[in-house]
Amino acid sequence: MSEPSLRKEALLASLTTRSLGRKLFLFEELDSTNACARTLADSGIEEGTVVIAEYQTSGRGRQGRIWMSERGKNLLLSIVFRPPPEAPMWQLPFLLSEGAARGVEHVIGTRVHTKWPNDLVLNGRKCAGILVEQSASEGAATAIAGIGINVNQSAFPEELAITATSLKIASGRSVDRLQLFQTVLASIESLYEAMIRGSGEILMKEWKQRCVTFGRKITIEHGNERLEGVALGLNEEGGLIVDLPGGPRTVYAGDVTITETR
Ligand code: BTN
Repeated sequence: MSEPSLRKEALLASLTTRSLGRKLFLFEELDSTNACARTLADSGIEEGTVVIAEYQTSGRGRQGRIWMSERGKNLLLSIVFRPPPEAPMWQLPFLLSEGAARGVEHVIGTRVHTKWPNDLVLNGRKCAGILVEQSASEGAATAIAGIGINVNQSAFPEELAITATSLKIASGRSVDRLQLFQTVLASIESLYEAMIRGSGEILMKEWKQRCVTFGRKITIEHGNERLEGVALGLNEEGGLIVDLPGGPRTVYAGDVTITETR
């Protein structure tokens, strides 16, 4: 049976949020929801605006990669945030992955883990990724928060076959994308409001409890650099502290592979 297409009226009717997603743009096809949300943000669209696409021709992943997602099967969305200047912006990617994890968990009833920096992991495989792109003009920061969740995709291209999964593969059943959209947005909104109130430490505590990276032997790759060590924890800005042969070092970006348990 083919997946029902998302409809704007149904997406809006499902929402339980105060403002997140109340302004909504839905596209059958786009280059990238992050690119579209950035254009809207630059033209002054309000905070909380959400852009969704059923298919992206140039979906953006972290580290300049392409985010591939089968047409009409998954959840691909971007949110416009305009946090106040005093907000701890470094927490934003963590709150997005925590919010998405809570939403997924609610819908499929299975514990979801995170892998630094902000991947969602089910049964050791990546089921969702987060890409936050920030800009500041005249002191006001705007962040475009992109979320890609593999929902009902049943197979992946060869290069992703070993590392990727979907909620359908992990749970053994098709997942209602509308319900997922609603729970993910509700979770993100409440975490965002908590971050703005200055209660982000609770979020970070929960995020750390989900994280599968700490205490594990890892390799971390960033650009041409490849480090091997043991992931110790996070510093006060979300950087990953890694115990390397030459001593501890904090990294702020990269791809982590867990090589063995300690
Ligand atoms: C990653 O590499 O882990 C981050 C992937 C983020 C993909 C999402 S899909 C919706 C949004 N639009 C994009 O172009 N990218 C993000």
